[in-house]
Amino acid sequence: SILEMEVEQINKGKYEHYMQKEIHEQPESLTTTMRGRLIRGGSSNRKSVLLGGLKDHLKTIRRSRRIVFIGCGTSYNAALAARTILEELSGIPVTMEIASDLLDRQAPVYRDDTIIFVSQSGETADTLNALEYSLSNGALCVGITNTVGSAIARNTHCGVHINAGSEIGVASTKAYTSQIVVMAMVALAIGADTISTKPRREAIIESLLELPGKVKQVLKLDEEMKDLAKSLISEQSLLMFGRGYNYATALEGALKVKEVALMHSEGILAGEMKHGPLALVDEHLPIVVIATRDQCFSKQQSVIQQLKARKGRLIVMCSEGDGTAVCGSSCRVIEVPLVVDCLQPVVNIVPLQLLAYHLTVLRGYNVDQPRNLAKSVTTE
Ligand code: AGP
Repeated sequence: SILEMEVEQINKGKYEHYMQKEIHEQPESLTTTMRGRLIRGGSSNRKSVLLGGLKDHLKTIRRSRRIVFIGCGTSYNAALAARTILEELSGIPVTMEIASDLLDRQAPVYRDDTIIFVSQSGETADTLNALEYSLSNGALCVGITNTVGSAIARNTHCGVHINAGSEIGVASTKAYTSQIVVMAMVALAIGADTISTKPRREAIIESLLELPGKVKQVLKLDEEMKDLAKSLISEQSLLMFGRGYNYATALEGALKVKEVALMHSEGILAGEMKHGPLALVDEHLPIVVIATRDQCFSKQQSVIQQLKARKGRLIVMCSEGDGTAVCGSSCRVIEVPLVVDCLQPVVNIVPLQLLAYHLTVLRGYNVDQPRNLAKSVTTE
C-alpha cells in the first residue's frame, strides 16, 4: 500500500535502498558494537576488553582442545576473517565449518571443543541444526548473533551480541563488519591472560577505537566505486583474489556481487592461483586483487606481476599511497586506509560492498530482495 511504501521511505531516510543505508551506517554500527566493551584508562592506561556474556566461560574456552567456527554465507566469511587472530591470541587450533557440511559429514565434535556459532539472524536452519548436533555431543557452544532472543542466542551456553542494529537488506553488510569486530574482541578476551601478547593486544584495541573513523574515510570511495561499476556493468564474471587475512574479503566481495548484482563472481585464494585459476586469465576477464599491507604483501605483489604478464585486467586494492608502486599505470587502483592487519578486512570489504551495490542498481536488479533469496534461511 501507499502507507507501507511511505513508512519504508522514512526507514530508509535519505537512502534509496536498505543495503545502501546499511553500508553507509557502518561507522555508527561499529561504534555501537564496541560500546562499553573496550576499556581504556586508569593510572596505568591499561587497555582491555570486557564481554559480559563470555567472561564466566573464558577459563573453559582457554582449556579447550580446539575452537570451531560454524556459520553460513556471510557469517561464515566473517568467522574466516577472524580465524587468524583467534589462533594467534588463543594458541588454540581454530577450524572452520560451513554448517550444512558439518551435518552432511556428521563430523566429529567432542566435549573439549568450543564451538562458536555465527549468525546475523540467529535463526538460520543449518546453523541451528549444527548447534543441536554440537550440544548433543557435549561441546561448549558460544553464539554470536545480531538478534537478541533468537534461537541461536537462546540455545547456546553463552555468547556475544553483535549490536549492529537491525539489518533489512538481504545482503549482509553492516552485520559482517560488526561480526569481525566482535570476533576480534573474543580473541582479545580469550588471549587476555597471556603476558607475551600484551603489546599486540593493545595495538589491536587502539586500532579498534580508530576503526569507525577509517570506515568513514573508506566510504568516500562511493563515487569511485560507482564509476568502477559502470565499467563492469556488462561483464559475465568477476574474480577476486585474496590471501591471509583478506581471503575472507575475496569470498565475501564475490558473494555480494553474485547475490545482488546477479553476476558470476568467485573469491579465490591467491596461493591457489597456479593450481588452476590462472588458466582463466586473459585481457578481458576483470580481476580484483587485494594487496593491502600485511605479511602477505610481497607474495601478493608477485601475484600481480604474474597476472600482468598474462595481460590480466586488474583492479588492485592497496594501501594508501601504494597505488603506483604496486601496479604502475596499467591497472585500476582502489586505495584504502591502513589499519592493524587483523582488522584490515573490515576496511577492505567496504569498497566491494559499494561496488556490488552500484553494479546492482546499474544493472537494474532488485537491491534489497534479490531473486530466489530470503534474508533468513529457515529451511534446509
Ligand atoms: C548474506 O549476504 C547472505 N544473504 C547469506 O549468505 C547469509 O549471510 C546467510 O544466509 C547466513 O545468515 P545468518 O547470518 O542470518 O545466519
